[in-house]
Amino acid sequence: MPLPPRTLNGARVGITDTTLRDAHQSLFATRMRTEHMLAVAAYLDRVGFYSMEVWGGATFDTCLRYLKEDPWERLRQLRATIVNTPLQMLLRGQNLVGYKPYADDVVDAFVHRMVDTGIDIVRVFDALNDVRNIERAAESVKHAGAHLQGAICYTTSPVHTIDGFVAYAKQLRDIGADSICVKDMAGILAPRAAEELVARLVSEVRLPVQVHSHYTSGMASMTYLKAIEAGATAVDCATSTVALGSSQPPSESLIVALAGTEYDTGIDVRRIRPASSILKQIIDNTPEYHNLIGPLQVSAEVLTYQIPGGMISNLRAQLKEMHAENRLDEILSEVPRVREELGWPPLVTPMSQIVGTQAAFNVILNERYKNISNEVSNYIRGNYGRPAGTIDPKLAARVLNGEQPVTRRPGDGLEPGMPSARKAVERFGGDEFDAISWALFPKETESYLAGKA
Ligand code: CO
Repeated sequence: MPLPPRTLNGARVGITDTTLRDAHQSLFATRMRTEHMLAVAAYLDRVGFYSMEVWGGATFDTCLRYLKEDPWERLRQLRATIVNTPLQMLLRGQNLVGYKPYADDVVDAFVHRMVDTGIDIVRVFDALNDVRNIERAAESVKHAGAHLQGAICYTTSPVHTIDGFVAYAKQLRDIGADSICVKDMAGILAPRAAEELVARLVSEVRLPVQVHSHYTSGMASMTYLKAIEAGATAVDCATSTVALGSSQPPSESLIVALAGTEYDTGIDVRRIRPASSILKQIIDNTPEYHNLIGPLQVSAEVLTYQIPGGMISNLRAQLKEMHAENRLDEILSEVPRVREELGWPPLVTPMSQIVGTQAAFNVILNERYKNISNEVSNYIRGNYGRPAGTIDPKLAARVLNGEQPVTRRPGDGLEPGMPSARKAVERFGGDEFDAISWALFPKETESYLAGKA
């Protein structure tokens, strides 16, 4: 499927508005409620964005777990309100919107239902850039008739190179990607690196290139400009009210910066004003949002720690609950050590949680690897896919205990998940959508359905 048409004539660069997904995921732990989304959705829809990212990532889980809302109903309502702009979502490959690989039948059911409900563009990534974890989701997205955007998780490490990212993008193209996204979840993509990577993707992969970054390190606006000059045709921004910090760069600044140039977005910046002022009111009047928002100044540490926006925001919230906020800095410096020992996985879901939790164990228990999480063990056994680097042999030996890690595709060898999920929701009068939620998050879905009944 080709790119959806630009919403305004003459636009050379499109903006994906992340206000309703990544912006609040990164700034206030994904807590934005559907009613607040609906209060601004129609205004955002009139702006002329290339697309609006409104679903996926951590929003599905948070809906059920914390907000006691139905993520499917949210999507239906957003689709009914947003009638001009293509809707985009973020899919974690075989992990869907969860934290571990699911069986292929769950992948198929999830993708088909979300596309039927109104998703136009599906951005698919795998935390380890292991294409085997994207294959099945890609096939489903194509079959369902949506735009497949294959995302490269950008990171820096001794084992990650521009050549490697370009080779991976070609694999994404070969499984049917309609466009490529450079996904810089931590905001560490430097302008010069973006320029080189985008130029090579444009000339060697020959698909439209979109760049996704975070403002955490303060580089994202510079990076976008260089990426656009190198041929990127779309970038991700958020309404100024929920931009900066660990969120995206503000749309308004980019629109004005590019106005009148050969990269004009075709958007009249004044169109964003109604949405940004309504959002400001909502946040000001909602303590559970503004209490979670961390400092909005540049976090220079991210350049060392490579921690994505959502991860910092969640770590801060978790430590607050444990009254252990004073150990955040120690945990942040433990993260790169754990990452190296695990073969340099990019810090993106679920690896950001897996590495972050292990780093927290290592610090809070005052002994490194005193406790090895189940997820780290499963990762070392190969159940999440293949890392780019090598896992620390001593750590691996301790976990494997003489066994060999698995080499098959992580989705293989998983029992189908839908038949038992359908049966489980029967007693609540649940439908197919509830069954999919159950297959992903049984506990949370059970308590949601029980509460509804
Ligand atoms: Co992001």
